[in-house]
Amino acid sequence: MKVIRARDYDQMCSFAAHFIARQVSHKPDMVLGLATGRTMQGLYREVVERHRAGEVSFAGVRTFNLDEYVNLDPNHPASYHSFMRWNFVEQVDIPPENVHIPDGNSDRLLEASGLYEADIKAAGGVDLQVLGIGRNGHIAFNEPGSSLVSRTRVKRLSAETILANTPEFGDPESVPRYVITMGIGTVMEARFLLLLASGTSKARAVEQMIEGPLTAQCPASILQMHPHAFVIVDEAAAVRLTHSYETVEEVLSDPYEEYFWEGA
Ligand code: GLP
Repeated sequence: MKVIRARDYDQMCSFAAHFIARQVSHKPDMVLGLATGRTMQGLYREVVERHRAGEVSFAGVRTFNLDEYVNLDPNHPASYHSFMRWNFVEQVDIPPENVHIPDGNSDRLLEASGLYEADIKAAGGVDLQVLGIGRNGHIAFNEPGSSLVSRTRVKRLSAETILANTPEFGDPESVPRYVITMGIGTVMEARFLLLLASGTSKARAVEQMIEGPLTAQCPASILQMHPHAFVIVDEAAAVRLTHSYETVEEVLSDPYEEYFWEGA
C-alpha cells in the first residue's frame, strides 16, 4: 500500500485527478472504476477541469461504478445515477453507453448482480478503481463483516452508514435500507486501486485500514493485500497515523517518480 499525505482536501483531489489523467493518457481505452460520495465531488471537479483544459479525454474510456441504492428512482437527486450524471458524465466526453452503474431497480437483483460481474469481465476487468471509505471502514457498500472475497450482490446498510448518508436524503427514514454493490473480491481484481479519505470523521477508519490488522471488521484493510493500492489522505484524516508517509510534494519531485506508479 502506498500512503500519500496531502495537506488538505484540495491538494488530495488535485493529486488524485493527476493520477487518473496520467493513467487515462497512458491507456485511452482503459476501464475505470468510479466511486460516489461527498469526498468524490472535488475529485470530479478537478478531473472535469483537466478535461476542459484538453489534458484528458474520456472518449474511449468505459466506466463501472461501485454501487447504487436498491429501489431508488435513478432520477432521484440522491441516487448514484444522478450523482454520476451531474458530476461526470454530462461534464466530459464519455459516450453515455460506456457508463455502467449497478441496476438497483431490477426486479431480479440476483441476476443483475451476476450480469454486472459478467460485464466487467467482458470489458477486460477494471484497470483503475477509485474508492472512498466509510466512517466504519466500508469500501463501496461492503459494511464491516462483509466477506473479503465477496462479489457483486445486495447488502443491507448498517445503522451508521444510514446516518452518514442521511444529509442527501433529508431524514434517516428516507435512506434506502438496501444497496447493490461490487464485492470486496470484485474490487480487489482491479489492477490499480486509488482510495481517497478526507476529514477527521474518517481518521479512525484510516488508521485501521493502514496500520490495523487485516480484518473483515474494517473492509478497507484488505487494501494491504493489493499489489498496487494507493491511498491519499488529507491531514485531518491522517491524524491518528503513527508512521511517517510521503507527501504529495515528495512524490511529485521524486526523481524515481515513474517507478512510484509501478508497485505499492
Ligand atoms: C458511501 C459510498 C462509498 C463511499 C463512502 C464515503 O456510502 N457507498 O462508496 O466511499 O460511503 O462517502 P463520503 O465520501 O460521502 O464520506
